[in-house]
Amino acid sequence: MMMSGPSCAVERLGALLTRYTGQILSESRLWRIETSLRPLLRERSFASLDDLLVALDRDTSAELLALTLDAMLNHESSFFRDIGVFRAVEEKVLPRLHEAARDKKVLRIWCAGSSTGQEAYSIAMMIKRMGEMWDGWRISIQATDVSAVAIEKAKRGRYPQMDMQRGLPINDLLRWFTPVGEDWQVADEIREMIHFQADNLLDPRRVSGTFDLILCRNVLFYFPEDKRGIACDQLAKHARPGTYLVIGAGEMLTGGNSAFTNCRELSCIYVADRPVNLNGPCALRAANPLPPRSPIG
Ligand SMILES: C[S@@+](CC[C@H](N)C(=O)[O-])C[C@H]1O[C@@H](n2cnc3c(N)ncnc32)[C@H](O)[C@@H]1O
Repeated sequence: MMMSGPSCAVERLGALLTRYTGQILSESRLWRIETSLRPLLRERSFASLDDLLVALDRDTSAELLALTLDAMLNHESSFFRDIGVFRAVEEKVLPRLHEAARDKKVLRIWCAGSSTGQEAYSIAMMIKRMGEMWDGWRISIQATDVSAVAIEKAKRGRYPQMDMQRGLPINDLLRWFTPVGEDWQVADEIREMIHFQADNLLDPRRVSGTFDLILCRNVLFYFPEDKRGIACDQLAKHARPGTYLVIGAGEMLTGGNSAFTNCRELSCIYVADRPVNLNGPCALRAANPLPPRSPIG
């Protein structure tokens, strides 16, 4: 029996995802598109993926597009995901940044591809846990994700019990969360440390200046080589010598412009050790313009 490939509608939806986010779906994830979109089809009374595509063609608001893209993206995240990496950030990276900026007392952190917020909240809780060494510092944590839906969830800071059982230390749970019905709400003191915004890493418009620490974990993995190069250039653009970059286990930085060198003793952690010299949009970016209509508001 001959196996047929993914349907035309599935392929068109996969192409839509790539067009707006740069992400490509592996063959196995292409097969799951229908399952991922089923709740949206049900909610909007679409009989099929083809109906959804017709509505997307007609839709003048960005809402349906944002919901469709969101359903196809992988938002997998958890508090203190890869605890060894967080430990290295707490014990090695943040103390070095503290030492380097002890006169200015300013710390700027960017979580790029922050999903529903667990990563940024973990960093905020970690800084609080480190105590008075940060007293008197101006600390800002900016967290961005291409999915406006994920960003809204992140801003809300409310998580189901299941998320609390995945890596969140009991002391942080008791100190920073209160139960609300079946869920847990993060404390305003932590929430207010983070500025969440929808933004595309391939063409970021909401971030400016350079950061001391950038986390871009488990995001690069889903980009094809050319888009990964563009993303790495964007990370480099917001770095300066001494900026630390944390990526996911198994991810790779690419692009000739990469200003980062792997900290050999710290897995997944890089440091920008030479001036970043990116003059304007890189050739790859110019060759792959993003579509004009943005689903991220
Ligand atoms: C697997 S999650 C990782 C979340 C978090 N960094 C972690 O490691 O727990 C990947 C996130 O990257 C986001 N993403 C994908 N493409 C993006 C892009 N072009 N710009 C910004 N975020 C993107 C997705 O929406 C998703 O929330």
